[in-house]
Amino acid sequence: MTPYHIKTSNSFIVLEGLQVKKKHLLLKDSEILSCWRNMHCKYFFNWTPVTKESTLEWLLQQYLPSSNDIMFMIKDRQGGVFGCMAIYNVSGTSCEVGRFMRGGSGSPSGVMTISLKSMLSWAYTHLNVNNIYLEVFEENIQAINLYKRCGFKVTGRVELNVTVVNGFKIFKPSNCKSNLKGASSAIALQMTHQLKYL
Ligand SMILES: CC(C)(COP(=O)(O)OP(=O)(O)OC[C@H]1O[C@@H](n2cnc3c(N)ncnc32)[C@H](O)[C@@H]1OP(=O)(O)O)[C@@H](O)C(=O)NCCC(=O)NCCS
Repeated sequence: MTPYHIKTSNSFIVLEGLQVKKKHLLLKDSEILSCWRNMHCKYFFNWTPVTKESTLEWLLQQYLPSSNDIMFMIKDRQGGVFGCMAIYNVSGTSCEVGRFMRGGSGSPSGVMTISLKSMLSWAYTHLNVNNIYLEVFEENIQAINLYKRCGFKVTGRVELNVTVVNGFKIFKPSNCKSNLKGASSAIALQMTHQLKYL
C-alpha cells in the first residue's frame, strides 16, 4: 500500500489521497467536490457557495502546500467516485476528521462506514495518532450515527454563533463574534483508541 491509497477490506473501495494527483486530474475533482459541497452546504459550518474554480484554487493554493491535510476521494473498482472524507489539523498525536460527503445516489448503503473505518485504521497506523476528533451540527443525526458506528464517543456540546457574510451563514464557537442571535449547536466527538475493525 502506497501512502494516501487505502484499499478497504472488501477490496473494491479505494480511498485515494488528492496529494498524489496531478494538476489536470485535480480539475476534475474540483468540479465534483464543488457540486457535492453546494448540495450539502447546510451540513457544514460555512454555507458560502463554492465554484469549481474556487475549489481548484483552494486545492492548489492552500490544500496541496499543506503538510497536515489529506483529502480522500472514495472510489469503486471501476474508478467511479462516490464520496470523500479528510484528515486535517494533524498535530503531534492528534488530528481532526471531516469533509464527509456521500456524492450522488446509487452507491451502496454502508460505504461511508467502510471508508471511515478504513481511513481511521490508516491514520492510526501511518500518522501515529491516538486522538481523533470532529464536530458536527447536533441535528445531523445521519452523520452522528456514522461516527458512533465507527467508534466515536460524544465528548461535549459546542454552542455556535452565526455570522452572515454576503448573505451566507458562517457558524463559529460562541466565544467568537456574531451578528445574529439564536444560532445552533454542535456535538464534539472523539476517538482515543484504535478499534479493531478490519
Ligand atoms: C454523513 C454522510 C456521509 C453519512 O453517509 P451514510 O450514507 O449515512 O453512511 P453509510 O454509507 O455508512 O450508510 C449508512 C446506512 O447504511 C447502513 N449500514 C452501515 N454499515 C452497513 C453495512 N456494513 N452494510 C449495510 N448497511 C450498512 C447504516 O445502518 C445506515 O442505514 P440508515 O441510513 O438506514 O440509517 C451522508 O449522510 C452525507 O453525505 N451527508 C451530507 C454531508 C454531511 O452531513 N457531512 C458531515 C458533516 S459533519
